[in-house]
Amino acid sequence: MQKERVLSGIRPTGFVHLGNYFGAVRNWAKMQEEFDCYFCVVDWHSLTTHPDTKELKDNVHRLLAELIASGLDPEKCVLYVQSDVPEIAELYLYLNTMAYQGELERTVTFKDKVRQQPDNVNAGLLTYPVLQAADILIHRATNVPVGKDQEQHIEMTRNYAERFNHRYGEIFPLPKAFNYYGDELIKIMSLSGEGKMSKSENQMNTLYLADDDELVRTKIKKARTDSGPTELNSPKPDYIENLFTLIRLVSSPDVVQRFEADFNNCVIRYGDMKKQLGEDMVKFMSPIREKALAIQHDKTYLSKVIQHGREKARASAGETLKLVREAMGINY
Ligand code: TYM
Repeated sequence: MQKERVLSGIRPTGFVHLGNYFGAVRNWAKMQEEFDCYFCVVDWHSLTTHPDTKELKDNVHRLLAELIASGLDPEKCVLYVQSDVPEIAELYLYLNTMAYQGELERTVTFKDKVRQQPDNVNAGLLTYPVLQAADILIHRATNVPVGKDQEQHIEMTRNYAERFNHRYGEIFPLPKAFNYYGDELIKIMSLSGEGKMSKSENQMNTLYLADDDELVRTKIKKARTDSGPTELNSPKPDYIENLFTLIRLVSSPDVVQRFEADFNNCVIRYGDMKKQLGEDMVKFMSPIREKALAIQHDKTYLSKVIQHGREKARASAGETLKLVREAMGINY
């Protein structure tokens, strides 16, 4: 039986953080065992917000190293760089004719970026979701493992695929956002409790895979808490729920149960909880960091990975583009 196809991507705009890891990358590492997986470092997307390319090459190399250290195996999945696959740009062009100005302007991520960078509202930002759709559809992927913040983009991808199929013939399956570990997509909040953890957030509120042990402990120690619940079995405020989300991800079930019970009985000591979380997080993160550092300096290995990924990704992309051109009658 043919394996289902998976595609996901990540921007090389900064260090990988725990939101990226738990929202997406740990899914990828798991899914490569069962699915036909394509994972892409989306350097073209990063130009919409980071036009200065001086550090781009180093960022792409470091990101690849961090992905491999997080468990991606370039022999089990196709790991490649977006700009190595020009077929994506061609499909982007066709899909742009299926995307309407009004809906692009209403996209949440676009509106956020307009607020964040009012002096650089470029057309690439506006059509960002179309390029993302091209990333996904170029491999005719059906599952897209992403965090909660990407849900709207995947919905838009489905719309473009439907419009294309309707206009030119059934070429694309309709992809869906996916979390291997549960029904809900993941959202890791910033340690301050305000908004999602992100590459551009205040660095003290974001845990990066590259952070050293002391920094991880310090950041968790400073995470927002309060004086604790005063009524039995109270609902948890968002920022406390986020600490519980993190402790569930890295600590053992008995530790989690103990703090859950303490919370429900109004005897929780957040200092103790954060100490425990800090230690368990360090145990979880430090092997990934060490491995990433070693890989990052092995430029020969990294260029082999890039070359290998490029060949496999272009082969798959070329097949789709052939079907697309035939369907559109662009095959003279
Ligand atoms: P990017 O680079 O911002 O993030 C990569 C992945 O990490 C997830 N993520 C989070 N998940 C949970 N909690 C958080 N705080 C958090 N922050 C980030 C994101 O949901 C994403 O899965 N547009 C995409 C990149 C992209 C893409 C694609 C993704 C381009 N083409 C095709 C999927 C398919 C982005 O900016 O991801």
